[in-house]
Amino acid sequence: MNQDNNFGYSDTVMDHFSNPRNVLKVPEEQYGPSGVGMVGNPTCGDMMKVWIKVDQADRIIDLKWKTFGCASAIGSTSMMSEMVTEKGGMKIEDALRLKPQDIMDRLGGLPSIKIHCSVLGDKALRSAIQDRPGRHGDRGQGYNRL
Ligand code: FES
Repeated sequence: MNQDNNFGYSDTVMDHFSNPRNVLKVPEEQYGPSGVGMVGNPTCGDMMKVWIKVDQADRIIDLKWKTFGCASAIGSTSMMSEMVTEKGGMKIEDALRLKPQDIMDRLGGLPSIKIHCSVLGDKALRSAIQDRPGRHGDRGQGYNRL
């Protein structure tokens, strides 16, 4: 981990912060998600929104996200988006077992005061999974605090 010139962040975090993967770049209504989740972080007031597409086999074949969050939130959610969609997509049951620590491990760690930021994407993903049709009646814009 090269933390000398990275403000305490790993090279992997810096890479994902500088080139975030899977950010939603089309208007939300064009994307056509299976579920949408949005959470706010009570510690800092930052927000995260996640959109997922799930196939018939319950695999998350695509995940997009946007945040009003910090470098740690951007880096960890970018990494999470790759972890969830790589190898043909993670099964829903496996995505629900994903923990912020798993994301941090792939990132090469986070500064200890920024660990709460890695929870944002994970919580928004869980909210999006719960938001899928048939999970509850009010799909699309659920807002949950951490
Ligand atoms: Fe708010 Fe990191 S400080 S998400």
